[in-house]
Amino acid sequence: MVTSYDYPTALLADTVGVDSILVGDSYGMVVLGYQSTIPVTVEELLPVCRAVGRGAARPLLIADMPFMSFQASKEDAIRNAGRFVKEGGMEAAKIEGGEEMAAIAKAIVDVGIPVLGHIGVTPQTATLQGGYRVQGKTAKVGERLIRDAEALEEAGAFGIVLEMITEEVARAITEAVSVPTIGIGSGRFCDGQVLVLHDILGLYPRFTPRFAKRYADLAAAIQEALQRFSDDVRKGLFPEEGHSFKMDKGERVLLSSRRKH
Ligand code: KIV
Repeated sequence: MVTSYDYPTALLADTVGVDSILVGDSYGMVVLGYQSTIPVTVEELLPVCRAVGRGAARPLLIADMPFMSFQASKEDAIRNAGRFVKEGGMEAAKIEGGEEMAAIAKAIVDVGIPVLGHIGVTPQTATLQGGYRVQGKTAKVGERLIRDAEALEEAGAFGIVLEMITEEVARAITEAVSVPTIGIGSGRFCDGQVLVLHDILGLYPRFTPRFAKRYADLAAAIQEALQRFSDDVRKGLFPEEGHSFKMDKGERVLLSSRRKH
């Protein structure tokens, strides 16, 4: 699974055969420049979902439900998940939270919308967790995380994202539930893996999390291209004749004779 926030990267992800695309609320940080995912709204994510849907035909398309689009009531959760399917062209919705969100997950599943759970570090409530801190360092927290995963499975979630959970606990969760676990910063023993696209591509200038692997350095490539473009323009090296459009010869003669009078 990868995140995507636009038509071209969704198209490219589809061509390499990724199983699933998440339109993550990480969009708020890596594209809109917010400090966290908290300000992201349904209205902001809907056009992004539509663009991704136009690009990717085969992967499962999952919308990340923004903060406060599902927590306040089952009605809110159903209505907003429904908008992502009906107006955004998505096939499933992801919600953050464990046991405490199981009833909400069930309500969405009950109206026929597949739900992906998300436990461990949950960025929408990171303040409550004391920041982006690895979860599951103690047996007690590990047991709670396993209960969270079991509650989400029981509620009908078709899979669960495990974010920044110790490898041992992530493995125990993967063994405890029958639905796939998708890890991000949770080690080697999850059923699948997800990363934020900009971390894979080296495109988020602020920082790359330690758990992410950078497969390209697009920030440097883009900077170099922009530098060369602006240097060329300043030195008069761009555009060249081949980048220009010409008049018909007769029209050119007419124009220059008019300018002489
Ligand atoms: O918003 C997002 O991109 C996510 C992934 C990190 C799982 O929730």
